Amino acid sequence: MMEAPGGLPLRRINPLELAGRLKPLMSKSLSLIVACAENRVIGRDRRLPFHIPEDKVWFHEKTAGQTVVLGRICFETWPKVLADGRQPVVITRDASLARPNVRITNNVPAALALAQTLPGEIMICGGQRIYEETLPLADRLLLTLVHAEVPGDTFFPEWRQMPWRETWRKEGADANYRYTFSILER
Ligand SMILES: NC(=O)c1ccc[n+]([C@@H]2O[C@H](COP(=O)([O-])OP(=O)(O)OC[C@H]3O[C@@H](n4cnc5c(N)ncnc54)[C@H](OP(=O)(O)O)[C@@H]3O)[C@@H](O)[C@H]2O)c1
Repeated sequence: MMEAPGGLPLRRINPLELAGRLKPLMSKSLSLIVACAENRVIGRDRRLPFHIPEDKVWFHEKTAGQTVVLGRICFETWPKVLADGRQPVVITRDASLARPNVRITNNVPAALALAQTLPGEIMICGGQRIYEETLPLADRLLLTLVHAEVPGDTFFPEWRQMPWRETWRKEGADANYRYTFSILER
């Protein structure tokens, strides 16, 4: 069987087991950025389940100039990912998606190993399985919590029982939603 960095076999493994084996190999810190409803919904029909202009600005500002790790659907639905100096690392089996400045890997450990070598911070941008596999490794969570329960088909893993310290927070609202931007660290 092929192996990923750290001697990890390329099969779906328990996120906690993965984290325990990968953490010592990570020299850079790891941030997850997500906009999440109270019921943990993050997506519907390959799109965001809410339209919040202030969150779009926040997301683009925070990821500008950074190495962004994302799944194939997130990549395909973010045409401007390469703008503002972002360095995407896309997780997919489809190697044909590679192009200048777009790196392709087929699993999370390989993506994180590659991301260590690229400029800027490492920011995990989803989707669901990538969040699930990296949340146990995260040093920082840039969370936009949308104070609503919305229908959807894609979820963020439960983060609320983890021992976070909130280091920053800002409340926001528009005509449709109330939301809280926060930075959680551990
Ligand atoms: N609210 C937010 O902040 C936020 C953030 C991100 C995404 N979203 C939403 O979430 C949805 C997209 O997320 P998604 O979870 O459906 O798709 P995704 O992760 O973007 O893409 C899924 C594909 O990526 C590859 N992949 C993902 N995780 C993998 C893993 N751990 N190992 C190997 N390959 C992996 C596979 O590609 P191949 O099939 O090509 O092999 C898989 O089919 C959209 O609705 C989007 O709007 C919301």
